[in-house]
Amino acid sequence: MTRRLLPAPAVQGTVRVPGDKSISHRAVILNGLAQGTGRVTGFARGADTLASVAAMRALGVTCAFESEETLRIHSPGRGALHPPAGPIDCGNSGTTMRLLAGVAAGLEGRVELDGDASLRRRPMDRVIQPLAAMGARCAGRAEGRFAPLVIEGGSLTPFRGRLQVASAQVKSALLLAALAADGPSELEEIAPTRDHTEIMLRAMGAPLDIDPPYLRIAPAGLTPVDIAVAGDVSAAAFWLVAASILPESELFLPDVGLNPTRTGVLDALWAMGADIEVSARRSVAGEVVGDLRVRSARLSGTEIAGDLTARAIDELPVLAVAAAYAQGTTEIREAAELRVKESDRIATTAAGLRALGVAVEERPDGLQIVGGGRLRGAPLDSYGDHRLAMALAVAALGASGDSEIGGDTAVAVSYPAFWSDLERLSHAAG
Ligand code: S3P
Repeated sequence: MTRRLLPAPAVQGTVRVPGDKSISHRAVILNGLAQGTGRVTGFARGADTLASVAAMRALGVTCAFESEETLRIHSPGRGALHPPAGPIDCGNSGTTMRLLAGVAAGLEGRVELDGDASLRRRPMDRVIQPLAAMGARCAGRAEGRFAPLVIEGGSLTPFRGRLQVASAQVKSALLLAALAADGPSELEEIAPTRDHTEIMLRAMGAPLDIDPPYLRIAPAGLTPVDIAVAGDVSAAAFWLVAASILPESELFLPDVGLNPTRTGVLDALWAMGADIEVSARRSVAGEVVGDLRVRSARLSGTEIAGDLTARAIDELPVLAVAAAYAQGTTEIREAAELRVKESDRIATTAAGLRALGVAVEERPDGLQIVGGGRLRGAPLDSYGDHRLAMALAVAALGASGDSEIGGDTAVAVSYPAFWSDLERLSHAAG
């Protein structure tokens, strides 16, 4: 589907972004391993998290929506889960596939995991290899590198070693498998990544010792927990950039998750001169939450590298859009992981910005963006990637002339109400 994107002079109002996608996946998967009932409020009801719900149902967990965003999860406990006869469809969701690989490794029987064309192209050896080292029998297309995957689990030995990639999905898969191993495991992280799994595992009573860069975990059962999911800072990022680049804008975003492993986007925007205030900072079940207010600002170019890249990994496409509207040059480095996301986000972000008239250069591990030029409306493509669709929609707001974007339905993966929120916030200003 193609959608017409009109320029907007400003965005104004209040926007409640969907619940955090990473936390929502974990809330259903981890409660699904725990014996008893847990209730999740603020559940992010996008296609990705619904793939995790369907996957846990397929293993024998009862998941019932009590309202649009309240999910009750009732599980007989990990020991009583059973692999389904057919494949589990993870759709577009890397988090579902990689975390479920860790779950499957701890179950008796054979689990097949499959996904859409994009997910079938994403690297799975990063999770298959360590799970095989723990004793799971794993197979996948092209020597185990890609889905569909087949995992036959059961008796696992502990994991002891260093993770080969900075990936919260791989770390989480191994922590979940380690719960079913026959002794304590120790993981060494090569860089800090989002720690929602660790926070939730501890709340569920898992014996997890965090001693960076080491994580030690002993086999254990989990106790279900009720979880209030805050707004997704990765969804908030689109509005933070939209309001920053469009003159006379002001947006209020209540209840946004501000876990420090996720707030690289705020640090990058502050470094560029953005006017973003955080208020009512509080802690909800170990996760930091706050309200955000953003006003237009004159941005300047910056450098995003190292740990900041890791802490803003999903927000780099929209930060590249901010860079296009900033004075001066922005360098995004050490971001080669972007090449194996829902699309090759280095190539697709560069293609989209270039179509809009931005001077952008692709590097093997990042982008160089020369900001401050005028953007002109153009035909754009989401390449089926939700975050690219939303980042380019923000870029098109400040361009002269209309744009259109192919593959606009991709936003349903993480933010089904994105287009209606966009219309409301830009009309409020018009
Ligand atoms: C996620 C981890 C990140 C991130 C993805 C969600 C998670 O991926 O890009 O959108 O929920 O654990 P990697 O673990 O591959 O870095």
